[in-house]
Amino acid sequence: MVGPDGGMTGRYMFDNATMEARNQLQYLGTVLDLGTRRALVEAGLAPGWNVTDVGAGAGTLTTWICDQVAPSGRVTAVDLDPRHIPSGPNLTVCAGDIRDLVPAEASQDAIVVRLVLMHLPDREEVLAGLVRALVPGGVIVVADWDCTWRDLIRRSPSPRATELFERFQDKLLTFGESRGADMGWAKRAPEVMDGLGLVGVTSHIESRSWRGGTGICLLHHSNSIQKEAELVAAGMSLDDLVELRAVLMDPELAVSGYLMHTTVGRRPAA
Ligand SMILES: C[S@@+](CC[C@H](N)C(=O)[O-])C[C@H]1O[C@@H](n2cnc3c(N)ncnc32)[C@H](O)[C@@H]1O
Repeated sequence: MVGPDGGMTGRYMFDNATMEARNQLQYLGTVLDLGTRRALVEAGLAPGWNVTDVGAGAGTLTTWICDQVAPSGRVTAVDLDPRHIPSGPNLTVCAGDIRDLVPAEASQDAIVVRLVLMHLPDREEVLAGLVRALVPGGVIVVADWDCTWRDLIRRSPSPRATELFERFQDKLLTFGESRGADMGWAKRAPEVMDGLGLVGVTSHIESRSWRGGTGICLLHHSNSIQKEAELVAAGMSLDDLVELRAVLMDPELAVSGYLMHTTVGRRPAA
C-alpha cells in the first residue's frame, strides 16, 4: 500500500542514474577507501577469498578487493543500480536489492557493507542475513557514517558560509531520515553485531578534515546538485545553493567528514 509519502520511505535517498552520481560515488572512494582497506587487511584478506561488496557504488573498493583475492578468489558486487561498477576477470556484478540477493549460506569469507545499512529501515534483518552468508570464521565489515556528530566545520571563510553549510546539512540529513535512513545507527552496530553471535567485534572511528574543493567538500558539492529539488522544497533557494557550492570550493573552508564507524566482526569458527 502506498502511504502518505507516496511510498518513498525506505527508498534509497540517492539515485545512481543521475548525471552527478558517478562523481558522488568516486568521491566516497577518495574519502573512505583507505580506512576500509585497512580494516580488510587487518582482517586477513588474502588471495583465494570469496568476498561480497554490498552496495558497491562506483566499485572503487570492489576493484581493489578483486586485486587482493586474485587469481583464485572471487568477488561479487551487489547494487540496486550497478552501472558505475567496472567489470573484472574475477568479479560478478549483480543488479538488485540486497534483500533479494543475499549470498548463499556459509559461502563468503568476507562481506563488506559500506554506507548501505544506515539507509535501510530493516538494516538489522539484512545484517542477520549477511552474517549467515559468512563461512565459519568469515569476517564482516560494516561501515557507516555517524551523521549525528555535527561539529564539522574546522574553519569557515565567513559567518554566512557557516550558516549555509549548517542549513544544507540540516535539510539533507532530514531528507535522508524521511527516506528511512538512521543517521546514528553506526553507533549501535557493535551491539547489534554482538547480538548476532559475531565474535571479536571491534569498531574503529575516524574522520579527517578537507579543504574546500577536495574530498568531503566535493562530496557535499555533489550532494547539493543531486538533491537540489529536495533542498529547494525544504526551503533553500537556488541562490543559496549557488552560494553554498562556491563556499564548498573555497580553500578557506575546512570541514571534517562525518564520523566513519568501521565495525568488524567474525563468525565463530565451527
Ligand atoms: C552511499 S552509496 C555507497 C557506495 C559504496 N559502498 C561506497 O561506500 O563507496 C550506497 C550504494 O548502495 C546501493 N544500495 C542502496 N540500497 C541498496 C539495496 N537495498 N540493495 C543493494 N544496493 C543498495 C546504492 O545504489 C549505492 O550504490
